[in-house]
Amino acid sequence: MREIPLRHALIMGASSGIGHAMAERLAADPDIETLVLCSRRARSSALLLRLQSQLAAAGKQCLLLDVDITDEASLAGMTNQLRKDMQVIDLVVNTVGLLHAEDVSPEKALEHISLPSMQQVFAVNAFGPILLAQALMPWLKVRRPVLFTSLSARVGSIGDNRLGGWYSYRASKAAQNQLLKTLAIELARRNPEAIVLALHPGTTDTGLSRPFQANVAQEKLFTPAFVADHLLQQITQATVEDTGSFIAWDGQRIAW
Ligand SMILES: NC(=O)c1ccc[n+]([C@@H]2O[C@H](COP(=O)([O-])OP(=O)(O)OC[C@H]3O[C@@H](n4cnc5c(N)ncnc54)[C@H](OP(=O)(O)O)[C@@H]3O)[C@@H](O)[C@H]2O)c1
Repeated sequence: MREIPLRHALIMGASSGIGHAMAERLAADPDIETLVLCSRRARSSALLLRLQSQLAAAGKQCLLLDVDITDEASLAGMTNQLRKDMQVIDLVVNTVGLLHAEDVSPEKALEHISLPSMQQVFAVNAFGPILLAQALMPWLKVRRPVLFTSLSARVGSIGDNRLGGWYSYRASKAAQNQLLKTLAIELARRNPEAIVLALHPGTTDTGLSRPFQANVAQEKLFTPAFVADHLLQQITQATVEDTGSFIAWDGQRIAW
């Protein structure tokens, strides 16, 4: 277990799915003093407003920030806000991801690829996480323990790609992995106490996976609460030797 407790944490993508479950878990953690909960519509999320009231009642600080990780101006607004409110950040968890949307669906064949759809998936899954890291650099580069973690997906592993399909999602997560590995190497020089992790949550019952759950065995479809517990266990156990790793919910190392 960590010798230094996680007191100040930021979750990007906290309004639903795995991000929300992690926010609930951290909110219940007695060590936590400040939670920054972000998504495009965090400030109008009934779930997050409820969590904010609970934390306020417990004498803890909870900031809700509307941030779009694909928009540099929005990220700069977040940085400015955090400069006022946060002296230190111990943990960042990015849980934002895109598999399908109104005009995006995972490609089963080459004919289904479209440039605008591919660009949208890359903007969210690959460019967003590294732009988020850049926006948080004032906190990441200071020499002290800090964790920057981002949810990837096993299907982003090139070594593990046996089934094919889902071109954009797979490739965008592979790109995210490379960007995170590169960040880990840069941060090891600038702040040797920083830990950067790409995390695979396992198939989880959320809006992102719902249209694709038909062939998933019940015991392999996890609840967001189960996944949040396991990911937080991996996070709290991580040491600087783990920086730049791709780790599954159960601690398994995944091939790049
Ligand atoms: N669910 C699975 O089975 C599974 C499996 C493997 C990997 N993953 C990965 O795990 C992560 C979490 O997945 P999930 O299933 O919890 O997803 P989800 O239920 O769709 O939640 C995504 C969250 O991200 C926020 N968000 C979306 N776009 C955003 C943007 N541009 N800027 C800021 N926030 C944004 C959403 O809130 P707003 O709409 O308010 O912005 C929401 O809170 C993703 O990276 C996913 O690829 C999931």
